[in-house]
Amino acid sequence: MNIEEIRKDFPLLQNREIAYLDNGATTQKPVKVINAVKEFYEKYNANPHRGAYALSMEATAIYENTRTKIAEFINAKHREEIIFSKNATESLNLIAYSYGMENLKKDDEVVISIMEHHSNLVPWQKVTKIKESKLNYMYINNEFELSDAEIENKITDRTKIVGITHVSNVLGTINNVKKIIKYAHKKGAIVIVDASQSIPHMKIDVQDLDADFLIFSGHKMLAPLGIGVLYGKKELLNKMTPFLMGGDMIEYVYEQETTFAPLPNKFEAGTQNVEGVVGLGAAIDYINELGYDEIQKIENEVLSYAKQELSKLSFLELYLTPNNTNHSSVISFNIKGVHPHDVASILDAEGVCVRSGNHCAQPLMRYLGIDSTCRASFYFYNSKEDVDKLISALNKAYNIFKKYVK
Ligand code: ALA
Repeated sequence: MNIEEIRKDFPLLQNREIAYLDNGATTQKPVKVINAVKEFYEKYNANPHRGAYALSMEATAIYENTRTKIAEFINAKHREEIIFSKNATESLNLIAYSYGMENLKKDDEVVISIMEHHSNLVPWQKVTKIKESKLNYMYINNEFELSDAEIENKITDRTKIVGITHVSNVLGTINNVKKIIKYAHKKGAIVIVDASQSIPHMKIDVQDLDADFLIFSGHKMLAPLGIGVLYGKKELLNKMTPFLMGGDMIEYVYEQETTFAPLPNKFEAGTQNVEGVVGLGAAIDYINELGYDEIQKIENEVLSYAKQELSKLSFLELYLTPNNTNHSSVISFNIKGVHPHDVASILDAEGVCVRSGNHCAQPLMRYLGIDSTCRASFYFYNSKEDVDKLISALNKAYNIFKKYVK
């Protein structure tokens, strides 16, 4: 399939004359996803698990069939290992406040990387403080990667939990999570993988990785905003106490005591985002039909072109590993001496959408000795013309600001 045909599937890309390069923040939605949500409301809308009438049972079937689809998509052993959440942040908070709170003891260690998004960092600060355990960091080397020595130095016999992003949302570095998981297991720790920036681009197999928990957001992989997934090994989830209490997650409620529903319901309190689940199911269908091989083929070509063209701009500072095989679809950069918000607003005026700021990764920024960057993040519907627009807008921005640059 060529990019022009693919782009026709995305109404926003037809309606707006833009180069949309903020896919790390959220992706555009194909007609298939938009129509699936519309069809749900037009033909099947009812509250799943709540009614004994046919319409509610149909809504339940749609909701639960999507759970099965997701389990197959990431090769989970059991469908009840898939828990729906609001987003990756909620999934990570659930793990921290349930697994972390129940299992960490004084002086135990939680190890995360300096590349983590605040959502895989701030909850651990809170929980380790309460439990009087320690929060340690694995730092990156000059090539923006985690070295084996750093991993082996930081994950020790005292480590009980490792939290690691599969792909950095700032640097695009792909972490070798399989290797980290193997090493952490040897030391007796469990591993949480943040797959938010990887699953849109690459096949995830939770059994092959042997991940204990793996989380992601739907909206970065074509699905609607507000739907997330938590995968957890059944034996771990079964032992955990729910994080949110309320409707549908109970078995029996007495005046003073409650017993909880079995998995997965015990982690899904209250009415769920069913339209999000429906949209996520359609997004997975879209990705499966296009195929990860094709997605990577298209992305690699555009990304190589972007790296080649960006590296020709001597006024740019690029924050990216030189190892192409360890790099996914995110490129952070700065025009030397110019604030990224100023650069991003000139790019915006030229119809180029990039994110600027700290990307919810302030400790990483501090470690790199900067406040913020501009970030272009790609998906399979981005073309070489999008890259050309970015390059031309960057040249324009440099020409505007160069007189102020020392
Ligand atoms: N976490 C998202 C990003 O990196 C919002 O932009």
